[in-house]
Amino acid sequence: MSLSMTCRCGKRIFAACAAVFLALLSVSAFAKEDDKWRNEEEVYAKICAYCHDVGVGPVIKGRQLTPTYIAAWVRHGWKAMPAFSAAFIDDKTLQRLAEYVSQSAPPQQ
Ligand code: HEC
Repeated sequence: MSLSMTCRCGKRIFAACAAVFLALLSVSAFAKEDDKWRNEEEVYAKICAYCHDVGVGPVIKGRQLTPTYIAAWVRHGWKAMPAFSAAFIDDKTLQRLAEYVSQSAPPQQ
């Protein structure tokens, strides 16, 4: 039972990683360096939501996690959570993203 749960989870993580990889590819192909992201909501929707709105990662909206905590996770990653470098999400965008997630309402399901 626990084995099959692990497999299912692994597949979802793999699918999410593949989706994120494709998103990264299209973003780096078309975006200009200086305005890569329109705003923090776009970053959340195009990156974080692939895992955090579908149950691959824990829900992070509406939990009043502190911006510092959120930013540390994004920069360093941990276990199944990938790290995103400043080349991908710059410091200013990360700061706004962390505040956005911190203050957001829980997702409607
Ligand atoms: C490929 C999937 C994936 C993506 C993309 C992703 N995360 Fe995660 N994240 C995870 C997983 C899985 C965990 C749980 C890590 C663990 O315990 O193994 C996690 C954990 C976290 C945590 C800690 C949650 C807690 O309960 O303490 C935060 C905060 C977080 N992620 C923020 C983000 C943000 C912000 C983004 C967008 C920039 C993002 N993540 C993108 C998979 C992802």
